[in-house]
Amino acid sequence: MNFFFEVHNDLPREAPGNNQSTKRAFKMVRNLKPDLKILDIGCGPGRQSIELARNHGCYVTALDNHQPFLDKLNRKAENEKLTDRITTVNASMFDMKFSPASFDLIWSEGAIYIYGFEKGLRDWKKILTEGGYIVVSELSWLTPEMPQEPKEFWDKEYPAMKSVNENLKIADACGYSVAGVFIIPDSGWEDYYGPIEKRIQNLREIYGDNPEANKVFDNETAEIALYRKYGEYYGYVFYILRANK
Ligand SMILES: C[S@@+](CC[C@H](N)C(=O)[O-])C[C@H]1O[C@@H](n2cnc3c(N)ncnc32)[C@H](O)[C@@H]1O
Repeated sequence: MNFFFEVHNDLPREAPGNNQSTKRAFKMVRNLKPDLKILDIGCGPGRQSIELARNHGCYVTALDNHQPFLDKLNRKAENEKLTDRITTVNASMFDMKFSPASFDLIWSEGAIYIYGFEKGLRDWKKILTEGGYIVVSELSWLTPEMPQEPKEFWDKEYPAMKSVNENLKIADACGYSVAGVFIIPDSGWEDYYGPIEKRIQNLREIYGDNPEANKVFDNETAEIALYRKYGEYYGYVFYILRANK
């Protein structure tokens, strides 16, 4: 039994964020042509893919390597009558087969960390059209100093996590100009953590004192409590980056 998937199966989204933040970031993308080809990398159940496809003239290729997420996204696209604007692709972000200059906009909410922030900015630029954009949300340190507890937790869970300034320097070195940066609000974390908390409550009743299950549930609960206590020190940051010509 994979208890991680028991918790994460069929959630509205798989990373902190919400439609308001997706919309806010999209507004910062400027001067693009009317028919916009968008690649959403690590789309998960695709809340943001749907939000992007709602914009007139946007065509979204939504890529993930977990088919149940893509099935869910396809169902939503059907319900929203957006099947002509959304194409799902089951593939690994490490093995994408797109030709150079295939997309005007690459989008990735809470997923570039899997590939590596810097490596993603460098490698994915090749499939962007000239002057195209990369928009990613990435867990980042918000202050130069932070208490021991969140530092220890994230040093273990995500040792590559950088500060906003470090990430902006990386973006510059990779050949991007910054069109916008913002921290997603607490509501974006609650939109993600709220459904997880409810799910864990139910699953604890089902699995009782199963130690393997409780380990997974306790880890998730600890992460949620940590954010509520120390959320001023780290956050998901949207980076809206335009590839230099
Ligand atoms: C943290 S979730 C974010 C999902 C979505 N962007 C969201 O904000 O709800 C990361 C996503 O990356 C996907 N993923 C993990 N490894 C991957 C890989 N090698 N290639 C493509 N997708 C991957 C997972 O299936 C998951 O949907």
